[in-house]
Amino acid sequence: MTFVKNCWYAAGWSSDLEDQPIAKTILEESVVLFRTVDGSAAALENRCPHRFLPLSAGKVTGTGLQCGYHGLTFDKAGRCIAAPTQDGLPIEACVKAFPIVEQLGLLWIWMGEPDKANPDDIYDLPQYHDPAWGVAHGDALEIDANYLLLCDNLCDPTHVNYVHPTTLGNPDIVDTPVTYEQQNWGVTTSRWTPNSEPVGFFKAFGNFSSTVDRWQLYHMHAPSTAIIDFGSAVAGTGADQGAGEGRIQVFSCHFITPITEGKSVDYWLHVRNFEPDDPSVGEGISEQFRIAFAEDKTILSMIQREEDKDDQTTRVGLELDASAGLFRHMVNQRIRDETTSA
Ligand code: FES
Ligand SMILES: [Fe+2]
Repeated sequence: MTFVKNCWYAAGWSSDLEDQPIAKTILEESVVLFRTVDGSAAALENRCPHRFLPLSAGKVTGTGLQCGYHGLTFDKAGRCIAAPTQDGLPIEACVKAFPIVEQLGLLWIWMGEPDKANPDDIYDLPQYHDPAWGVAHGDALEIDANYLLLCDNLCDPTHVNYVHPTTLGNPDIVDTPVTYEQQNWGVTTSRWTPNSEPVGFFKAFGNFSSTVDRWQLYHMHAPSTAIIDFGSAVAGTGADQGAGEGRIQVFSCHFITPITEGKSVDYWLHVRNFEPDDPSVGEGISEQFRIAFAEDKTILSMIQREEDKDDQTTRVGLELDASAGLFRHMVNQRIRDETTSA
């Protein structure tokens, strides 16, 4: 198993969890999410301890989730609170409960040791809460690839020129250097492309009539959260000082949750510094991202299929792999630490 367990993972969009329970597979475990009548979210192991019917086949009844076979009902802590077929409650009837918190429009679940779950550790982006910035929630993009293949991709600003030539990259500018820096939470990989034609995304949203300085800062937080700070401003007007004429800046946020070893889901959203109150602008950005992320999905699932052949062929390394290599090292270290302490 190659998962970090003691961390918060996005389990779904808050807005999708209404009065019906939802089944999810997270880190190979089957989980049911539901919302009790008081509006709070809950997450339980998705299996009734009686005859093992998935609890997601049942229904929410007030403060609990009722099994759809014989009506055993469990509260959000996983305790049995109703057993309609008998006088007393079967004390051994309980299911595992997972800590769950809502933030950034997402449900966050803790799959590890419950006493280590601290909601303050959930990633937060200050601009998400700032009315000067516009927020748009994207999709839950499932990709048939291990989550670390997605992380490699999100430590790598160079691929945009080849994989996303119409939206995020420019196939004519491929030699701009990349730098990276280790953080206590992961790795930042940076690329500045000065004085260049705006790429398709900034042509669409920036109205630039001149060349621009473009930045891509890929903040990859272990184990699987990527915050991509990217933008453009008129060349030579201070983009690198946090300013710049016509500055267009977007935080593209990817909250990646392993479903299984070979499948992941990327809950993505974005936050922009322009036209914050016009949802059609947010939707327009999402449309560009859907094109780009579908391109990533295609190549990553193809790579996973090759990896699955497991023919022991050694990969060739490139300098551009350095930050992804460091990131994988940090994730592996966390997995090793968890395994040792367990
Ligand atoms: S299987 Fe759930 S109550 Fe019987
Ligand atoms: Fe990409």
